[in-house]
Amino acid sequence: MTIKYEFKDFPQLETERFILRKGIVGDCKDIFELYSDENVVKYLPLTSFKSVEDAMDEINWYDKIFKEQIGLRWVIEETKTKKVIGTCGYLNYEKVHNRIEIGYDLSPQYWGKGIMQEALSNIIHFAFSSMGINKIEAKIEPENKSSLRLVEKLNFCKEGVLRQHEYEKGKYVDLVILSLLKSDY
Ligand SMILES: CC(C)(COP(=O)(O)OP(=O)(O)OC[C@H]1O[C@@H](n2cnc3c(N)ncnc32)[C@H](O)[C@@H]1OP(=O)(O)O)[C@@H](O)C(=O)NCCC(=O)NCCS
Repeated sequence: MTIKYEFKDFPQLETERFILRKGIVGDCKDIFELYSDENVVKYLPLTSFKSVEDAMDEINWYDKIFKEQIGLRWVIEETKTKKVIGTCGYLNYEKVHNRIEIGYDLSPQYWGKGIMQEALSNIIHFAFSSMGINKIEAKIEPENKSSLRLVEKLNFCKEGVLRQHEYEKGKYVDLVILSLLKSDY
């Protein structure tokens, strides 16, 4: 029988260098720093944050998707410094099909250190072992090479291209769709 995740207490996870935990009001400053950076939002359907209130809305949204049982978003806290340097998680949970979509963002000064690989390996394990997920999808703009490289290293397999799938910053953008199945894992 497949496990159905119950969305009771927000799950806290630990990796070698990071704590993956629920976002709280005290993270506003770090979340603002993250999403006010143009390099972070370049391939996201978001414009850069202009104020700490935008960061507060983002944290409230993390709470909302968990309460509505459609997703989970962890903040990535560096264990040594206690600084929140990124976020990762899931959205568009399809309970009937045991399918979910992955998402992640990291502050540019931390790119190129294998950090997101470390965080995603952990939440992927969580999805397959504790949530009963069968398929994790990733939707990535073709120009977002580091994101494509990241999921390919995690064994995601390309399924195709969703043409002009999103309207983003004044234009339609294609999205490459990739997935990881429990049976691939
Ligand atoms: C997508 C994103 C998280 C990728 O970040 P990243 O740091 O390249 O990701 P990884 O954790 O896979 O790190 C891999 C890099 O770290 C290097 N690395 C260093 N130490 C490492 C280690 N111990 N283990 C693994 N890789 C290591 C790798 O060589 C690789 O470098 P390369 O890309 O120059 O080859 C980042 O570009 C980002 O936040 N972008 C903006 C937001 C975004 O686009 N989100 C995704 C939307 S679909």
